[in-house]
Amino acid sequence: MNRLRAPVRRLLTGPVGGVGRPSAAARGNPSRGNSSAGRMETRSKQRCGGAFAILAATSTRNGTVLGAAFVSETRRADDVYPIEQVEALNPEVTRMVVRAPEIAKKIKPGQFIMLRIDEQGERIPLTMNDCDPEAGTITIIFQAVGATTIRLAQMKAGDALQDFAGPLGNPTELEGAKRACVIGGGLGTAIAFPQAKWLYDHGCEVDVITGFRNKDLVLLEDEIDRHSTRQIIMTDDGSNGNKGLVTQALQQRIDEGADYDLVLAVGPVIMMKFVAATTKPYGIKTYVSMNPLMIDGTGMCGGCRVKVGDEYLHACVDGPDFDGHLVDFDDAMRRGVMYRSFESAAREGRDCTSVPNGDSPHLGHSTERKGA
Ligand code: NAD
Ligand code: FES
Repeated sequence: MNRLRAPVRRLLTGPVGGVGRPSAAARGNPSRGNSSAGRMETRSKQRCGGAFAILAATSTRNGTVLGAAFVSETRRADDVYPIEQVEALNPEVTRMVVRAPEIAKKIKPGQFIMLRIDEQGERIPLTMNDCDPEAGTITIIFQAVGATTIRLAQMKAGDALQDFAGPLGNPTELEGAKRACVIGGGLGTAIAFPQAKWLYDHGCEVDVITGFRNKDLVLLEDEIDRHSTRQIIMTDDGSNGNKGLVTQALQQRIDEGADYDLVLAVGPVIMMKFVAATTKPYGIKTYVSMNPLMIDGTGMCGGCRVKVGDEYLHACVDGPDFDGHLVDFDDAMRRGVMYRSFESAAREGRDCTSVPNGDSPHLGHSTERKGA
């Protein structure tokens, strides 16, 4: 167990599955897969005391087990996740509060959950926007862009979700920052918010720069106001009186002498690419939150590979945050385009049982990207 990385230990002992230790096959003898991030173990289904579980993954690098998990796939009929609040933040974006006390106790900024509406549904990753450990709730914010998020946006308080598994991924490394700039592009703002809140609540000076196409799409203005030293909202069309991209505001703050020791960016890949390019000449530590297509969320399917330096890593178990000065954003954008037809097929209800590049959509056919 000690050889397992922290997120893997969490998966084995945490609330994701909570249905037992991995099989002997999962603990060793990797038998297939050849991504440069490591080899991946086969999966198997097991009945576990009424719960139908999937042995999700064992991922190894240089013989060291990186990832292994039982993910509870179907729980008892009464063991569901009630939706407590639903609120439309703008015509495209919904905020939802879900009761999930075990996850609420453990989840940290930057981590995500995988949810499934019902037994027939696909599993989709969504990053936590907020949590209340005392109330036992997790807040998610999502854009209705795919088949599942469109259905999710139609659900009401009092409905329940079949699966809500997590926390998944690694928390963002925030300790020690004194002067940070948190950047959110569009919906990415909802993911960037918990980082800004954590930093601000821990005594860090925090600038939050957000960017939207127009003023009607602005998200979380009041919440960010309460948890930041300074908030700068940019719009592409200037409809809020502040025309420009987030990178222009960032450059201006750097020129004004903001001496950041940490920049975090969450948003479109192209935005994160240019944020990293802006901070690189100044040597400012910069993390970006990558959101490639995720299928199982456990390191097995390989769908979420991201090129970081000269190796491919998995956003779901190695990330989702990576050093922005090492990420190959052009490769990420190429991979994003590759999956586009698969995603639109799923949206339109067409066959999507094969995806490009030999990856196959295991474990629930998730066709939506990790969003907030
Ligand atoms: P958008 O396309 O409207 O962009 C939001 C902001 O990003 C813009 O207003 C602008 O300030 C900035 N931006 C865009 N292109 C830029 C460029 N070339 N240079 C500098 N800044 C730039 O975003 P949207 O329509 O709200 O879409 C949300 C996007 O965020 C989607 O692409 C989605 O995949 C992505 N997203 C990413 C994550 C993540 O974890 N990284 C999570 C949720 C959503
Ligand atoms: Fe499948 Fe990451 S390896 S989602």
